[in-house]
Parts: sequence; structure tokens; C-alpha cells
Amino acid sequence: MKAYKKGRIVENIEISKNIYKMVIDVNLSAAPGQFFMFRTKSFRNEPILSRPFGVCDESCGSLTLLYQVVGEGTDIMASLTPEHEVQLLGPLGNGFNLENSTNRKIAVVAGGIGIAPLLSLVKKLESKVDFYAGFTEDPYFIDEFRPHVDKITCASFKKDGIFVTELFDPNDYDLIYACGPNGMLKSIHEKNTSAELQISMEAHMACGIGACLGCTVESSDGEFLRVCKDGPVFNSKEVFS
Ligand code: FES
Repeated sequence: MKAYKKGRIVENIEISKNIYKMVIDVNLSAAPGQFFMFRTKSFRNEPILSRPFGVCDESCGSLTLLYQVVGEGTDIMASLTPEHEVQLLGPLGNGFNLENSTNRKIAVVAGGIGIAPLLSLVKKLESKVDFYAGFTEDPYFIDEFRPHVDKITCASFKKDGIFVTELFDPNDYDLIYACGPNGMLKSIHEKNTSAELQISMEAHMACGIGACLGCTVESSDGEFLRVCKDGPVFNSKEVFS
């Protein structure tokens, strides 16, 4: 049985409007696509409910998370300062499968805050990688990817009026890794006839360990899949028909 492990915030900064980067001093590591349940207490000692975050980056003894302020809990997270104590459970879930990624033409696709777990992925890939990213407003965090990919194409819906799914043809690739809103993942799946498509799904999670069934999605053959335990990474054919 895994237990929460304590860590301390090293840095917690806003990198774009309502998008924060938090670096945590903690001796944990994860495969690309795995996630941690994060909890802490506010400065007034109120508990912040556990919530899942994919690992954006890791280096010796520290983990980097990227998060969007979307409500009260993440608003409190944004107010935390260095040295504040946090707790992490994990790594949880499966990660992206990198086994057959050598010598394949690869696209990595991010939608909004779905960019977060993809940095640790591109750092591990050894083939040529084209990176596509779509944002509702201004792009963020793109420069972190430049040293690790061959080509970057990004779009802001507000400025360019197009979605990331309009930036490329999935059939030009052998293997696609994608993370973003479920509508974006489904759209790539529907256009794709030939590439292996691995998708990291978003879901509300309460326990993160397969116990509460709060994160289930229906599979393409009518079964129920727990995003936290059976995923969060799936072959798109498992989820979409
Ligand atoms: Fe509880 Fe997935 S979050 S089963």
C-alpha cells in the first residue's frame, strides 16, 4: 500500500495567465504519463482535497508540476510559497508506452494544460518528433520543448481561430502521443486511420488508486475503465470506436 510522501515547495510561479509551475523538493520519480495525487493544507491550515497531476519534469530530488487555476483548491495552491509542505501519493497509473518508439515517425500533441506531462515524454523519445500544441489563449511553456523536438507548430484559438487538430494530418505519422481535452483526443482518433494513437485522458479523481470508481469512462466495447488505474494512458481504440 502506497503512502503519501512529504515534500517542500521550491518554486511556485505563474508562467502564463492562471498557469503555474510548481517545483517540489521530494525524492520521487515517475515514468512519462504517470501521475501523483497532491494534497496539502492552506496557510490557514484548511486541507486541500487530493487532486491528480501528471509529472511535467523531474531531476535529482525534485518534481515539476504544471497546473491551471480553475477553482478554490488550485487558487489556494497558487498562493503557496517556497518551504510550504505538500504531500504526494504515487507514481500512479500507467505511463506512455515507449517500447516501439524507435525509428518511427512520431507526433506529440498537446491541448492546453495537457502540455504538462509531455515534456518528460519528449525528453525520453529517441526518434524524430514533431510537436503540436493548441491553446485557447496565449501559448505557454513551448520553449521548454525546443531542445527535445525537431519541429514545433502551435496555435492559439483566440488569435488564429483554429484548433490544434487542424494543424496536422495524423496519417502522416506512425505513432502519436496526445494529451488534452477528451474532445481533442476523439477528434484525432476519428481522423486517424493508420497511426498508433496513445492518449492520456483527463478525469476527475477522488482516490487515484482505483477504489472510488469516480473516474470511470466507457470503453469502446461497453466496459468501464478507471482512468486512474487502467490509464491514464490508453490506446485510443480502447476508448473510442
Ligand atoms: Fe477513484 Fe479512479 S479516482 S477509482
